[in-house]
Amino acid sequence: MQQLINAIPKAELHLHLEGSLEPELMFELAKRNQIELPFKSVEEIRAAYEFSNLQDFLDIYYQAADVLRTEADFYDLTWAYLLRCQADGVVHTEPFFDPQTHTERGIDIGTVIKGITRALKDGELQLGISSYLILSFLRHLSEEEAFSTLRDALPYKEHFIAVGLDSSELGHPPEKFERVFAAAREAGLRTVAHAGEEGPADNIWNAISLLNVCRIDHGVAATQDPQLVSYLVQHRTPLTVCPLSNTKLKVFADMSEHNILQLLDKGVRVTVNSDDPAYFGGYVNANYQALADALNMTDAQLRQLAINSITASFLPGEQQARHLAKIDSLISPT
Ligand code: HPA
Ligand code: ZN
Repeated sequence: MQQLINAIPKAELHLHLEGSLEPELMFELAKRNQIELPFKSVEEIRAAYEFSNLQDFLDIYYQAADVLRTEADFYDLTWAYLLRCQADGVVHTEPFFDPQTHTERGIDIGTVIKGITRALKDGELQLGISSYLILSFLRHLSEEEAFSTLRDALPYKEHFIAVGLDSSELGHPPEKFERVFAAAREAGLRTVAHAGEEGPADNIWNAISLLNVCRIDHGVAATQDPQLVSYLVQHRTPLTVCPLSNTKLKVFADMSEHNILQLLDKGVRVTVNSDDPAYFGGYVNANYQALADALNMTDAQLRQLAINSITASFLPGEQQARHLAKIDSLISPT
């Protein structure tokens, strides 16, 4: 199974670039930018990664992002992630970045976008990994701040394909961003949103009906509402699920309780992703492997998950077809 997981072409559709900041690079960037870290070693940092919920994680994640200051820092962060994609057989990725995490510290949005997009371009040229970038709003900040972020980002519109919504779900429901998402769609951008991670199934309904999303990020709360599951099947709405994230943040007490394969078997278009791999214990293949180990994922389920990752992506049809043919050549349909 491990060999097959490695070999099968996959797309990654739920990855926060800031969440791919490994402790080693965090130290290197702290040194480069002459920043004092509250940790003495890489081991000490890793030992601090014990979370009891989403907010626990977010507090450390935003603090760690402080080492990212220059265009070169954002380039190095993105490039390191692309090398992990190459190692894992990820052929296409649609990463998120959180501009407000950086602009709130006085960093220009252009610095962030230029560093990231230069690395993504090199990833395409040197590694053959295609990508589309997604700008994500921090939902704990105000609607007004999201509007001003959108306004500052629009001069760079050619560099991202969609807007998303992340950070603390509880207390910050999708309806808070209905108007800013409408403005983003008006500007020709697609929309996605985190919903039903820690929050209820109603947040998934509202992300669909009020934000017009093409995909739901996480969405594991869908099983609370059978009508919603039927809707997702019927409309082929993708869920970008992150198994290791969900167990690290205690959305599920144990991987054996994860509902992704149940959703898959019901016909929901679920995909496997790593979310914040530097914090949650592994990149995309480690997430597939966790499903094999804890839930006895079959070859047929692996095949369908990989197919879903390609068909749920924003890639044009002919590029999807090329990846799907390769998947078929590795695991034939039964
Ligand atoms: N949920 C919400 N916000 C986030 C996440 C997540 O999984 N990762 C990074 N920001
Ligand atoms: Zn996420």
